Amino acid sequence: MAEFRLPKNSRIKKGKHFPAAAGVGNIRKYAVYRYDPSSDENPRVDTYDVDMDNCGPMVLDALIKIKNEIDPTLTFRRSCREGICGSCAMNIDGGNSLACTRANEEVKGEVKIYPLPHMPVVKDLVTDLTNFYAQYASIKPWLQSRTPPPPDRERLQSKDDQELINEPAACILCACCSTSCPSYWWNSDRYLGPAALLASYRWLVDSRDDATGERLDELEDPFRLYRCHTIMNCTQTCPKGLNPAQAIAETKKMLVERKY
Ligand code: SF4
Ligand code: SF4
Ligand code: FES
Repeated sequence: MAEFRLPKNSRIKKGKHFPAAAGVGNIRKYAVYRYDPSSDENPRVDTYDVDMDNCGPMVLDALIKIKNEIDPTLTFRRSCREGICGSCAMNIDGGNSLACTRANEEVKGEVKIYPLPHMPVVKDLVTDLTNFYAQYASIKPWLQSRTPPPPDRERLQSKDDQELINEPAACILCACCSTSCPSYWWNSDRYLGPAALLASYRWLVDSRDDATGERLDELEDPFRLYRCHTIMNCTQTCPKGLNPAQAIAETKKMLVERKY
């Protein structure tokens, strides 16, 4: 797929306006990025008037209403509608978040909705996450143990050890963090980005995993880990309240104090 970078605003054209039906009083405007790389020369922003008296409370409810009742050509991803699957990640009102957990009333004025920044666009609000998932796979996100499992039960952990992985294991791979990271924007071909590095940390601190040394070896590289400059956008934007920046800092510390 040809790579498309979100263009500067000057390249984005003003698109169509879809007015509300006569008699609708409580209107909210949604300005939504539209682009089909297979047919459009430039992206545009279409504006939809949404009847808020007959719309659910979340931004995703408004998008579903637009698609169902106003413009079926609008394309976006969603699945769980409760902040679990990560598929509805997009840029809302200038920040990355999940459309299903972002309330309409949290946004002031016109609701501006763009795809996740600096990602190739497949269509409208759907970005191509192939590289993002490949980076996640590259950290080997599975248990690597050199001992056979106990024959009669699962591998156990102490409560303290389990608490170390509790937070990083809650990542839903929505990509809000990586696509808000300036280092990732400029070096996403070589820098793993905060989501993959948080996943890496989750296995580095897992007491049942025996591949800590190999995992650290893989990260000891000027780009894969060390392109993080502690800008903190990732932690600020995470819709699950996780802290990838701290996980990255802890990983760097593990490399400095290396015991493996
Ligand atoms: S702390 Fe690191 S990973 Fe997070 S936004 Fe900043 S540079 Fe990116
Ligand atoms: S760390 Fe947060 S923002 Fe990043 S992918 Fe995981 S859930 Fe999404
Ligand atoms: S639809 Fe699953 S996280 Fe929003």
